[in-house]
This record gives sequence, structure tokens and C-alpha cells, in this order.
Amino acid sequence: MDMLMFKLDKSNAMPLYEQLYNGIKDAIIHKQIEVGTKLPSKKKLAEFLNISQTTIEIAYTQLIAEGYVASKPRIGFYVEEIDDLPYIEKEPLNIRVEVDKKKIYQFDFHPGKIDTDSFPFSMWRKYAKSLYDHSSNELLQIGDHQGEFALRGEISKYLYQSRGIVSKPEQIVIGSGTEHLLPMILRLLGNDSKFALENPGYSAIPKIQLQNRAIPIRVDEDGLIVDELEKTNANVVYITPSHQFPTGAVLSATRRTNLLNWAAKGENRYIIEDDYDSEFRYIGKPIPALQGLDQNNKVIYMSTFSKSLMPSLRVAYFILPTTLLQKYKETFSFYSATVPRFDQHILANFMRDGYFSKHLNRMRKIYRKKHEKLTQIFETHYPDVIITGDQAGMHILISVPLSKGEDQLKQIAANNNIAIYPVSDYLLKPIEYQYPTFLLGFGSIPLDQIEKGIHQLMQCWDIPKTKCAAHF
Ligand SMILES: Cc1ncc(COP(=O)(O)O)c(C=O)c1O
Repeated sequence: MDMLMFKLDKSNAMPLYEQLYNGIKDAIIHKQIEVGTKLPSKKKLAEFLNISQTTIEIAYTQLIAEGYVASKPRIGFYVEEIDDLPYIEKEPLNIRVEVDKKKIYQFDFHPGKIDTDSFPFSMWRKYAKSLYDHSSNELLQIGDHQGEFALRGEISKYLYQSRGIVSKPEQIVIGSGTEHLLPMILRLLGNDSKFALENPGYSAIPKIQLQNRAIPIRVDEDGLIVDELEKTNANVVYITPSHQFPTGAVLSATRRTNLLNWAAKGENRYIIEDDYDSEFRYIGKPIPALQGLDQNNKVIYMSTFSKSLMPSLRVAYFILPTTLLQKYKETFSFYSATVPRFDQHILANFMRDGYFSKHLNRMRKIYRKKHEKLTQIFETHYPDVIITGDQAGMHILISVPLSKGEDQLKQIAANNNIAIYPVSDYLLKPIEYQYPTFLLGFGSIPLDQIEKGIHQLMQCWDIPKTKCAAHF
């Protein structure tokens, strides 16, 4: 045959072998080269096109692999008969890989952000380094679907000491975040279950499978109003009793008892206790978990390392009552764990050697200082701003006596390089608040920047600073 004529463009971003492969393939498909035609040898074609033999080799190998060309040893390369598949000319895909350009604010008061300056990188690295080694080659295989036994054991010990929770590692399931674990729990409790949620509450929950099925229950300064729950036909309630998200209310002792009694009254009634944000308490004693008070196997406890270590770790877990274990095994034992085994062992070893407790103690002091600073600034300079939910956690709520709406105030703050989060973002059903109310997370703001951030926020909202510098 005539020597193959191709325009190869060395300045094109597409590699030469791919241009050549495309050229020959198109010629075969469009019958410009007949079946049985012998293609030029690699050497001849390389000389003719003035490119390397390796380039030809790669193109020919690909054509052989895809069945367009056959290689006959010591004879040459021949065009194969191909079925007339409908051939669709496709425009080359023009996928632009762009980094997600999220706006970076000077002050971001997101409640989920942590203090990244204080993470014990060197210790974490030490544990990671010692695991990525031949002695851990077993960890290359798939692990336990409930999560590594070693980590479940450490979690069980930690929860007993810090939260009064009695559990066996067999009851614990580890997964990559609350939002991935919740659908498992919902499936376990049955699709016909009726779910009640706190209002306001964690905004992801209604988006996870529940959509219109969720029944909103109001929250006051004593937490979820259990009387209201009792009036509904719900059989499962999702609740954050130790530190209601986002109001920060603590479920009162009476309501705890009422809630457990409510659950005990129905065979299919359950409480999902999300203990998010319970590690950092600034006023009063730690609140024991509901799970520790439950005598009737009615509480499914869940928590996460997102605040206590880092949100990017994606390690959360739930603890099932023993009565649900068999059903869990039947439903989920063919799903693999969603957290990499190496990460689970780094965390387990870090906990085993006491570094997790040390880290928590250290962070408690850091967040306490930030929390004190924040509340002092409001008390001293902005006494008209009402603060609530300030006993624990990494955010407070502020209500500002202004006539503008929350969205407008959020926009004004954004124009001034400040991200702030209105409580209306967390409402399942609208609630009329007396004043615009916002979550003010202080976790990621450096201590020495808190004052500047608050003044900047108040200034952009035209809230005047009262000059009563008692503390400063
Ligand atoms: C109540 C509550 N639980 C859980 C989470 C998130 O947990 P994770 O990072 O494990 O998905 C949030 C995040 O805002 C939350 O508000």
C-alpha cells in the first residue's frame, strides 16, 4: 500500500502516538484502508514520518489490542475485518480541571471549623510512618466491615471513661461521617418508620433520605420538647441531647427521663442520640449520655472525631443496642468499612497511647480561652446583642436587635469579608425569631484575631461599640 499519509502535529497537546493511532483507526473505520492491507513496518513508517519507532509501536499495539489490526509474526501488520458498528464522531472532550474556587473569608465563623494551628502533626506522623511499613502488610487486605477491632476497642474504652457509655466493640460500627452512617441506621429501623427531628437542627439530616417524611419538633432552652414528640406518630427521634445543635441547649433531666419512657412504650420506638460537639464544655459538669441511662435497648448512640480531631479524617461511629445486632449483620455484613484501615490504625494507636486524651485536654484550654474572649467582647462592648448556647461547643448563638433580615445581614457581612451563618439555615420548619439570629463559630479564628473579627462584624452591621472597657 501507499505509505500512510498523516499530518502529525508536534505542537499539539495530544501525544504523537495517539494522533497516529487515531489517524489509522479512522482510516480503517471509513474504509480508506481495505481489509487485509499490510501496514508499513514500524521501521519504514518511522523513517517516513520522521518519528521514533517507539511511537509507532505504541500506536500499533493499541490498534492490535482493539482488534483493528492483526500482527502476524515475522510477516507484518494487517488490517482486520471489523464489524460495522455504528461509529459516532465525537468531539474531543474538553474537560477543564479547575480547582474549586471557594471564597476565602478574612473571618469565617463556620461552626464546624476547628483550630488547625494546634493539631499534633508530629505525633500523628510518627504513627502513620510506623504503620506504612512491610510489617503492616496485612493491612493491605480488606478489613472488618464494622471497622477495625482495635479502633472499636479504643472507642469503647474512651466512651466509658468520658461519657459513661457501656458498650462492647462488637456493638460499634465505624464509617466515614455521620451523613454516611445515618442512612444505615434508618434502613435498619425500617423504611416505614416515622422520624422526628429537632427544629432547628443539623441541616444535613432532613436531606438524608428523609425529605418530607421528617416530623419537626421544637426545641427550647431545655432541649427537645418531649411533650410535642408524644403528640406525634413518630417512632424514631433523632436528638442531640448533650449540646443541641445549633441552639446549644442541654436536654433537662426531666425530659431525659420522659424521652426514655416514651421510647420504652413502643417496641419499634428508638432514640438516635447524636453526641456531636459534646467534648468541649465550659460551664458546669459534663452531661452524661442518654445511652448510659437507657435500660431498655432503645438508644442508638452516635458520635464523630470531626470536632475532637479533624473533620477531614471522616471517622464517625454508632453503637447499636445488642437487640439490633443480628439485624445489622443480616443487612450490612457484605458492605466494606468506608474508612481506610491504615487511618483507623493510626487513630487507634494514637488513642491507645493516651495522645487523644492529651490532645482533648489541650484543645479544651484553647477553645475555653477563645470562648471567654468572645463572650467578654460582647458583654463589654455590645451588651444589646443576646448570646445563647454558650455553655459548650465551638459556636455560640447571637441575636442582634436589628430590623434587617438574616439573609441581608449575611450578605452585608460577606461584602465585608466575613462568613456568618443564620439560624434559618438550620430550620426544618419556619420559626419566627424575635431578632435575626446567627451561629458564630470561633474554632478556627486565632485567639488574637477574635476581637478584630467581632468589631469588624458589628461595625458592618452598624451596631455601635459601647465604650465600657472594664476588661480591657
Ligand atoms: C449535629 C451534627 N452531627 C454531626 C455532624 C457532622 O459529623 P461528621 O463530620 O461526622 O459527618 C454535624 C455537622 O455539622 C452536626 O451538626
